[in-house]
Amino acid sequence: MHDFNYRHNNLYCESVSIEELARKYGTPLYVYSRNTLISHYRKIKEAFRQINPLICFSVKANSNISICRALVKEGAGLDIVSGGELYRALKTGAPSRKIVYAGVGKTEKEIELAMRRHILFFNVESIPELELINKIAGKLGVRQKVAIRINPDIKAKTHKYITTGHGENKFGIDFKTAGNIFLRRVLYKNLNISGIHMHIGSQIVDAKPFIRAMERVAVFMKGLEGHGCRVQWLNIGGGLGIIYTKERPQTAGEYAKAILPILKKTMANIIMEPGRFIAGNAGALITRVQYIKETPSKNFAIVDAAMNDLIRPSLYGAHHEILPVRSRSYSGSKDIRVFDVVGPVCESGDFLGKGRKFIGLRAGDLLSVMGAGAYGFSMSSNYNSRPRVAEVMVEGSRIKLIRRRETYQDLLRAESR
Ligand code: LLP
Repeated sequence: MHDFNYRHNNLYCESVSIEELARKYGTPLYVYSRNTLISHYRKIKEAFRQINPLICFSVKANSNISICRALVKEGAGLDIVSGGELYRALKTGAPSRKIVYAGVGKTEKEIELAMRRHILFFNVESIPELELINKIAGKLGVRQKVAIRINPDIKAKTHKYITTGHGENKFGIDFKTAGNIFLRRVLYKNLNISGIHMHIGSQIVDAKPFIRAMERVAVFMKGLEGHGCRVQWLNIGGGLGIIYTKERPQTAGEYAKAILPILKKTMANIIMEPGRFIAGNAGALITRVQYIKETPSKNFAIVDAAMNDLIRPSLYGAHHEILPVRSRSYSGSKDIRVFDVVGPVCESGDFLGKGRKFIGLRAGDLLSVMGAGAYGFSMSSNYNSRPRVAEVMVEGSRIKLIRRRETYQDLLRAESR
């Protein structure tokens, strides 16, 4: 599953001890296993090899250039949602023909930049956006490929903030409107409307909502064919869930088995946009216990990482496993207590985990917050004027600092004084 394992009661990432990394780079610290990252990309590639899809890693999940570049070197494309992500994607050396661009609010400037770099697809989320892209393509004298993002009106069982394929979400276009766009596609002279895009949500652990959404889309495509309109590309988005705690998510193989028959029937070239599945379990956030605080109602382990470093617990109530970097055995200690693991930020919602049991936990101990490789650093901020943390990537026994820790000077860099 991942390459964070205990050796003689000490947590390692591949062949490097986490204690050594914390000593060398300080805490809090994001640590990634290159092997876990790449092997998850390969799992998807292998599961879908019959149809050889273009797998575009979703940059928002982890936008560090070294992470993206490692995947691009493996042949991955990139799924972007902003001018900033386009900039990053190009800096990784990703070929433009492997970049796809989604998002409901693309600006004129962002569209023009991406078009000038000849990206593969704009995934279009509304008619006004379609019109703007058509206009810009006319100005630049290009015929731009676009995919229409369908909102298949499916309720995926996941957190309400991360479902995107339900009718009331802001994403995508309903079938009826999308059908009209395809049938009247000649009106958009500068566009080659040749794809359908969908993404129904994130951290979806079971294949059913995917199957339902894809079946609906397949029926829609068949209908269009009846009107002489064959859609050549189908982008099925991301959304594959991972194990954070007790989930039993579908494997890449099971996912493929469930949806390959539908995908094959469409005869389209397939694009996928996994983010979390590739990066999620490849990263951990290492933090040090600053204080143990006992109150009449609770024990708190106050650590040096906070909601600004990893916001998922605060924002979604997400559960991340928290492991001691040096594990103590039950037999060796009677000091087994339950803690809320909290950060130093001035918000009661600042926690990394609640009600977690540890043996003999003391100030100075290191903890590893697992499953932090996706939507961890990429959602971090400078709230409370906390410099953003360092990131390292481990490959076997090699260590690479892929982002240095920010300094206090960095905090003021863009401000006028
Ligand atoms: N494609 C599109 C159009 C997306 O909007 C997303 C994620 C993905 C692909 C990648 O989805 P994934 O395979 O990673 O599930 N911050 C939240 C997740 C937000 C997902 C947003 N869209 C979290 O921490 O759970």
